[in-house]
Amino acid sequence: MLTLLKLLKDGRFHSGQALGAALGVSRSAVWKQLKHLEAELGLSIHKVRGRGYQLASPLKLLDPAEIEHLAPSCAWPALVSDSIDSTNAEALRLIERQHAAPFLVLAERQTAGRGRRGRKWVSPFAENIYYSLVLRIDGGMRQLEGLSLVVGLAVMQALREQGVPEVGLKWPNDVLVGQKKIAGILLELVGDPADVCHVVLGVGINVNMQMTEEVDQQWTSMRLESGKMFDRNQLVAELGVMLQKYLARHQVGGFSAVQSEWEQNHLWQGRAVSLIAGVNRIDGEVLGIDSQGALRLRVDGVEKVFSGGELSLRLRNDS
Ligand code: BTN
Repeated sequence: MLTLLKLLKDGRFHSGQALGAALGVSRSAVWKQLKHLEAELGLSIHKVRGRGYQLASPLKLLDPAEIEHLAPSCAWPALVSDSIDSTNAEALRLIERQHAAPFLVLAERQTAGRGRRGRKWVSPFAENIYYSLVLRIDGGMRQLEGLSLVVGLAVMQALREQGVPEVGLKWPNDVLVGQKKIAGILLELVGDPADVCHVVLGVGINVNMQMTEEVDQQWTSMRLESGKMFDRNQLVAELGVMLQKYLARHQVGGFSAVQSEWEQNHLWQGRAVSLIAGVNRIDGEVLGIDSQGALRLRVDGVEKVFSGGELSLRLRNDS
């Protein structure tokens, strides 16, 4: 089915006969595959008598050679799938099979994309970026401190560099435009964090997505913000450049090396918030973050510090 898609991706008309000849199947088999493409990948295909079939809009697929050409100095070996359950899940399977880190897993779509706190990450075909970078960490806990916040900074800068200037951060690792989520980060760890471990830096960026009814929170995409289409290969290359830069700063100076830059970009600095931890809720005012990336809140006049992957922040009505 994806071979057929690759024949159509130029956005031109292709006759059923030519497609059948290229695939070695009959015209009716071509027609069946086209119906599958529409149903499974949500693509729209025009059929015009006498001319053949054409994708409603041309597709540009992920291309590891192009990504490497655009950012040769930070080209981690990339494994690109047309369709996978989750790039993070695939990265974890590869670690299990001793695949040598660092490496990158990318996919055109995810059928079971994972979000934070058990949520799903909506991952339509060829519209967004689903990116998992695997690093081996053997420097102990310091190299993990605030790591997800560092990734947030790199993602934010990559988006700004590509033409979405309004993007900012929300603790711990949401990337937002105003109140709307444009990118999310999910770190998963295997091994002993105090000794040798592997960390999967999972990044999802809403790039060209314009419509979905599946997302259960306010969201936006680079295209919705700017009104133009983005080249995902360029964005992957840009993200590689930014990740390399921020990970190097973090490795040398720890999280405190980027703490103030992170705070300057925190959209909810000084705001009245509720911190949600399961069924518990703590109301306070955001003071900032500490040198390990933990959240500093003023609660009933006293400063308190919070960290942990299962926490989330909401703005209070009086904020
Ligand atoms: C969040 O909930 O904000 C985190 C979303 C992280 C989504 C990305 S997409 C690539 C990687 N693979 C996954 O299954 N999840 C992460």
